[in-house]
Amino acid sequence: MAQGRRIAIYGAGYIGLVTGACFASLGHHVTVVDIQQERIDMLNAGRVPIYEPGLAELLRDHGDRLTFTVDGRTAAARAEVVYVCVDTPPTVSGDADLSRVWNVVRVLEGAERLQAVVTKSTVPVGTGARIRAALDGMGLVAVGYGSNPEFTAEGRAVGDFMNPDRVVVGAADDATARLIAEIHQGVNGPVVVMDVESAELTKLAANALLATKISFANEIANLAEAVGGDAASVLQAVGMDHRLGAHFLNPGLGYGGSCFPKDTTALKTLAGSAGYHFQLLAAVIEVNSLQQRRPVIRLKEALDGLSGRTVAVLGMTFKPGTDDMREAPSRVIVGRLLAEGATVRCWDPLAPDVSGAEPWSATTRHHSPIEALQGADAALVATEWPALQQVPWQEAAAAMARPLLFDGRNALDPAEMTAAGFTYLSVGRAD
Ligand code: UGA
Repeated sequence: MAQGRRIAIYGAGYIGLVTGACFASLGHHVTVVDIQQERIDMLNAGRVPIYEPGLAELLRDHGDRLTFTVDGRTAAARAEVVYVCVDTPPTVSGDADLSRVWNVVRVLEGAERLQAVVTKSTVPVGTGARIRAALDGMGLVAVGYGSNPEFTAEGRAVGDFMNPDRVVVGAADDATARLIAEIHQGVNGPVVVMDVESAELTKLAANALLATKISFANEIANLAEAVGGDAASVLQAVGMDHRLGAHFLNPGLGYGGSCFPKDTTALKTLAGSAGYHFQLLAAVIEVNSLQQRRPVIRLKEALDGLSGRTVAVLGMTFKPGTDDMREAPSRVIVGRLLAEGATVRCWDPLAPDVSGAEPWSATTRHHSPIEALQGADAALVATEWPALQQVPWQEAAAAMARPLLFDGRNALDPAEMTAAGFTYLSVGRAD
């Protein structure tokens, strides 16, 4: 077990809480700071504000080494290492909004025990150099600076954190690189050391390449629909080439979530502001937004118009295993279905109550897939929840006004769905 360090983590969101809980499990003394009093109160009462498998157990089991507070200044004064884990949402122009990062940097003034400030939030290349300059300006010249981007996926973040493909450590000096590596002792993965700018770019490049694979898979699927062939077989065989890899080649409704849409846009914008037109990434983003429009176009064709039709949307979160609704493709699709004059009935096992938010306020939410499907003219699988495998599909088809199902995630078995009585559409599969 690593020597227990005093670590202050700023941001009690998906990244900050997972990082904090994992560091506590490695033997460190962790204070998690957030500006939202309500969130901190919940955590202090033993409740976890987000759903992430294994997180609640870690927070409970290592509670003696975890503190939650809104007092960022006191946390900084006591910390040896500060981790910046706040969110960096996109601005209207596509840049990352770094205001929360700067709010953290400001409370570090006078932090006497501090040895290093480490950024885990995804930031544009060059941000570290600016934070370094700010620390120098605050008299924290001896404090090291590092970039330690995260590569954890929601729904399996704890496992990804503890067993990573790599831990990327960007630092300008050896002592800081060693310190960051040391606090990861017990994590099962290689540490890759580089300079700060390279670490910042590695994070954006990794997400951009994963998004590229998804957009590529979606284009092959769309092409298979036009020229013939079964995209699932094609992509499976393509992915068996170890140089290409089998992951992130599942076609569907386009990527969503809090990372890919934001990070691809941020990298394209960053490139543009440096005078470089990142053509490939621009196309990846465009393909993704077209992919989110396709289900509505295909349902409109199949139903001979959407006005007055009822569509059941099965799944609302951006992927299964999470309650996260950020940039969920379902949101775009539901907005378009409503704009076309359809009535939308939704089901999701984990999505939070979004009934007050656009476009969900104009939809109804149902407790089970079968309830959502009652009387519907079409069903759309928008998230591949495992629970969909347990739906009595024959009964479901009989409950619908018209048994048409568009499987936007290729989650169901075409033969089974046809046998259940459905007209079954999917993404690029020869059904
Ligand atoms: C992603 C990356 O996978 C993580 O490595 C990264 O650390 C994280 O972003 C981040 O930057 O914080 P996440 O957004 O949680 O993680 O979700 P993914 O599992 O990567 O899925 C992203 C989207 O791509 C989802 O909408 C998913 O449905 C879609 N997807 C994924 C596909 O459409 N096809 C695929 O083959 C894979």
